[in-house]
Amino acid sequence: MDTTFYHLNLINPLINASGVKCMQSSQLDELTSCNIGSIVTKTCTPLQRQGNSEPRYYEPKNHLLTINSMGLPNEGVQYYLDYYKKNSASLQLSCKGRFLSLGGLSINENLNMLDIIYQNPENLTHLDAIEVNLSCPNIVGKSQLGYDFQNLESYLRIIFTKIETLEETLLVDMIKNLEPGKPELKEKVDTKYKVLIGCKLPPYFDMCHFQVIADILSKFPRLDYINCINSIGNGLVIDSNTEKVVIKPKNGFGGLGGKVIKPTALANVHQFYRLLGDKVKIIGCGGVSNGDDLFQMILAGATLVAVGSQMMIKGVKCIDKILRELEDIMKKKGYSTLDDFRGKLQYL
Ligand code: SIN
Repeated sequence: MDTTFYHLNLINPLINASGVKCMQSSQLDELTSCNIGSIVTKTCTPLQRQGNSEPRYYEPKNHLLTINSMGLPNEGVQYYLDYYKKNSASLQLSCKGRFLSLGGLSINENLNMLDIIYQNPENLTHLDAIEVNLSCPNIVGKSQLGYDFQNLESYLRIIFTKIETLEETLLVDMIKNLEPGKPELKEKVDTKYKVLIGCKLPPYFDMCHFQVIADILSKFPRLDYINCINSIGNGLVIDSNTEKVVIKPKNGFGGLGGKVIKPTALANVHQFYRLLGDKVKIIGCGGVSNGDDLFQMILAGATLVAVGSQMMIKGVKCIDKILRELEDIMKKKGYSTLDDFRGKLQYL
């Protein structure tokens, strides 16, 4: 199930969905020791956050969906950088991709976290990707950036200019500090300190909106990948017995995940695959609970595939099962690699 994601050689295409089993080091340890191909941290802010009040997550008995309004509880960016540094050896040994999800509550918080990351270049040697979350639906009083069609481009311009400036400064410093007589190629420095950059997007529902977003994203050549989709924001689940909502924050409104969102996730993955082509790779996320779901995500164009609700419900043991089921499907169909069917969805 070998998977290539740019320069990363991964053991398989699976990654946890950010937010699931990735907030505390014990949870990240569990991910590290399971058979998943990559790990992403809980979306973080510059400092530790408690998040919204509880109950803030709910799954009905039929497991068709989940609803959450966590409100970005996390341990702060430094905690996750330290985790990756401390566990560098085991993560490298198991060939795991190491993703860091950033979700500053303002542009300044995101810029601040980028400063924190780049001010110690060693951080970059323990990281493979930085993902900017543009789509958390659960912060009271904040709208989702991915839906702010007016301001998204200028927001991304500020973020990417910052990243490019930090990278340039780092490169100049590194080259300056090279031992005389031991000239290191610029590319070597690039490979060591250049991480992949991605954005986590909310789901879109209108053909026009896919185009608008793809046009904006295409303006940023430093964008390596998109992760779509985040939960479907502001759903409402009601318990008829109690006649109450099932989570506390925002009067019960929260992000929907699980099986019911898979068609929306597939549509987003496939439409962005069509519109962005080879320029930007895609992590498909939403409703993957078995090997067939994983197969469909790749058929729709995803290179990596995230597992969220299913891992909440079943724990990390679901990873082996999903991979086994995909292997069976591939065997039956006569596919030997994921590239044999990636993006090859057919139309009637
Ligand atoms: C949350 O912490 O509320 C979920 C994060 C997200 O949906 O991006």
